[in-house]
Amino acid sequence: MDRYAVIGNPIKQSKSPWIHARFAEQTRQSLEYGALLVALEDFEQRVTQFFEDGGKGLNITMPFKERAWAMAGRHSEAARIAGAVNTLYRDPDGTLVGENTDGTGLLRDLKHNHGFDLADKRILVLGAGGAVKGVFANLVAESPSAIYIANRTLAKAKALAEAAQSTIEIHAVHYDDIPTEAFDLIINGNSAGLQGDLPELHSETVSTNTWCYDMIYGVGDTKFQTWAKALRAEQALDGLGMLVEQAAESFRIWRGHDPQTAPVIRELRRLLAQA
Ligand code: ATR
Repeated sequence: MDRYAVIGNPIKQSKSPWIHARFAEQTRQSLEYGALLVALEDFEQRVTQFFEDGGKGLNITMPFKERAWAMAGRHSEAARIAGAVNTLYRDPDGTLVGENTDGTGLLRDLKHNHGFDLADKRILVLGAGGAVKGVFANLVAESPSAIYIANRTLAKAKALAEAAQSTIEIHAVHYDDIPTEAFDLIINGNSAGLQGDLPELHSETVSTNTWCYDMIYGVGDTKFQTWAKALRAEQALDGLGMLVEQAAESFRIWRGHDPQTAPVIRELRRLLAQA
């Protein structure tokens, strides 16, 4: 049976084995998908071993996405720009190929599942860490009219803006310097909401036409969703759809089959609510 796994540290929170099992059932693929907890110093050796033992593909999660990028002998365009890899497989000639499916996952959720078109929109992105790096090139490719990227560490936002090499208007700013005007879309990639508080944002950035999208998800609303709903944003979405869509894109790359994501998103939402 073809073997796949997600590799990270920690790993027990990962929903990927469950999601890929649903995709395999749906598309009648016979495969095994596990979860590998790996010590920080053992990552490269475990990846090499996995493929030498005949493993077909790996998903990479925290904190190894950059190290997976460094291991890959070839990168997709999205992975090259992100500097991070969440999907690995081997070419027929044995080359380790690195892909990043996070940006495709975010866009499929926004565009396909929710019907939001990013072209000519004004977008505010919060954060400039790994989560944002993984999706930024995909956002730029949608031709929004402008992107503001706000981060506590301005240099990281600037580096991302410069790496994009785009003709569209991209501004790197501190949170305090976000324009006090409504955006069409605000994407939260700041991890502060996981533990502490999100940076203070002007309420003027949200109007009743603003879509707010949190790249994280949890049981119930995230802090960012709560904030967006209090300001009567048109939409306040979490990243559960993105999670399932990035997995679906990995599945397509590995198996050449297109799983149905909607029932998987619905079921995962129900399971989370029960947990
Ligand atoms: P991830 O890979 O999950 O994106 P990361 O690379 O550590 O994690 O990035 C986390 C993001 O949240 C960054 O934009 C980080 O800002 P800095 O680049 O300035 O570190 C942001 N972040 C995390 N904790 C924060 C806090 N307490 N206040 C403001 N921003 C925070």
